Amino acid sequence: MRTAFVAGNWKMNGNTDSINELMDGLVNSINSSSVEVLVCPPSVYISQVKSLTESSKISVGAQNVSENANGAFTGEVSLSMLNDLGCEYVILGHSERRSLYAETDQLVAAKFIAAVESGVKPILCVGETLDERENGETLKVVSRQLNAVIDAAGIEKFADAVVAYEPVWAIGTGKTATPEQAQEVHAAIRAEIAKSDAATAEKTRILYGGSVNAANAAELFANADVDGGLVGGASLKVNDFIAICQAA
Ligand code: 13P
Repeated sequence: MRTAFVAGNWKMNGNTDSINELMDGLVNSINSSSVEVLVCPPSVYISQVKSLTESSKISVGAQNVSENANGAFTGEVSLSMLNDLGCEYVILGHSERRSLYAETDQLVAAKFIAAVESGVKPILCVGETLDERENGETLKVVSRQLNAVIDAAGIEKFADAVVAYEPVWAIGTGKTATPEQAQEVHAAIRAEIAKSDAATAEKTRILYGGSVNAANAAELFANADVDGGLVGGASLKVNDFIAICQAA
């Protein structure tokens, strides 16, 4: 039985005051243990959020990390820094990282391996563009992105990993995948993992991301292979994020 999981990806949003307000609302309302709840602030606010979540059930994660351990990498944040701050998870291979910062499947795999070796659990994002979907290439693209990591890392490294299916055309557009579209790809991702190890496939949480909101979360999460959500815009609104967590 997989524990439902809802993660908020705040992207490059927020400031000290807005984060205090958001966390105040979340910490007081999120206390169920039937769903695991994670928030991923911009890295400069991780310490602030960590101290605000100390006596709560909410975990804290990062949105990206360097594949390098330390040294002359101006502007980068390392896994030991995330560990130092008490980050439990890191989002990897988000489509914005892939498209705006040219992250390749190989780089995402290197980050994935480094994260697991440091004890920070990866949330590996995969997903097709609109063109790829319209060309019937969705499952091919998602499998390629997933297998690049399985092949480089080995399936053993997926023991605590989470996968997020985020169709690029659904991110920040208000266009959500239908429950059927989400279920089809989630089942394919699980089947792909099962080719390497059936037990890992059964255990791995697969989240849906892309315009999840308070109104559509329940029907998306009701699918057999949708284990929760990776939420962007709606994770910045207290009531919406709480409603999404309750739907999981
Ligand atoms: P939206 O929920 O704003 O569409 O963003 C999804 C996302 O990219 C989460 O990582």
